[in-house]
Amino acid sequence: MLQEATQYLKDKTSFVPETGIILGSGLGGLVHYLDIRNRFPYAEIPGFPVSTVEGHSGELIFAYLNGQALLVMNGRFHYYEGYGMETVVFPIRVMHLMGVKRLIITNAAGGLNPDFEVGDIMLIEDIISLLPDNPLRGTNKESLGPRFSEMSAPFDLDWMAKVNQAATKLEIDLKKGVYIGVQGPKLESRAEIHYLRMIGGDAVGMSTVPEVIAARHMGIKVLAFSVITNESIPKVSKIFTHEEVVAVAKKAGEKLVSLVRGVI
Ligand code: HPA
Repeated sequence: MLQEATQYLKDKTSFVPETGIILGSGLGGLVHYLDIRNRFPYAEIPGFPVSTVEGHSGELIFAYLNGQALLVMNGRFHYYEGYGMETVVFPIRVMHLMGVKRLIITNAAGGLNPDFEVGDIMLIEDIISLLPDNPLRGTNKESLGPRFSEMSAPFDLDWMAKVNQAATKLEIDLKKGVYIGVQGPKLESRAEIHYLRMIGGDAVGMSTVPEVIAARHMGIKVLAFSVITNESIPKVSKIFTHEEVVAVAKKAGEKLVSLVRGVI
């Protein structure tokens, strides 16, 4: 299936992307800055599942941004939608086979750290997986990577240093911390929030972790950001909705778009 998807794309474009970007909820604004060369709706590509979440449009975009050749995933697949892990990371593996060496991942997440405010951007420094499955489970595909994937430093340190420089230049108060990936599709109870904070989380969300695992398995350098769309703090029992999460992600997404452009 991977070969079929890759061949389909290679038959239709000679574009060789170097950097991949996954646009999360509300972060589609980056698309306006792209010099787009090809776009492929997921439904058109063999083996690609079709996204089921509202607000996730679902297309692969080959484009230039400041001279960098990008492969942009506009819309992603979540485990909570019912897909198997292999399906969730299928596009990341296609990215690798198309030539991608570096990947920027974005998401919307709940803030667990009391110093965070709604609308903040967090650079993900490390992850904790509370997902019930892992994309590397099963027979290992040696052509993609080793049986036991090394994960002591999932995010690229040099690249993170460049993000710090870009954030300073853009006067963005960049937060940093640990992202905990949960299965969903639900938000957390207060007891769960307390637990997630206790085990070391600064933000919680329902994506990104499988993508990081699959990318690192293939030796892709990774950088990841969360837009903090709501405060998940045990004392605060403020109720929020998915619509609010998407609205905040859209607004704060502009800040993240300028940061990603700065880094590129
Ligand atoms: N929890 C889990 N996922 C999320 C949240 C949250 O509070 N906000 C946005 N995605």
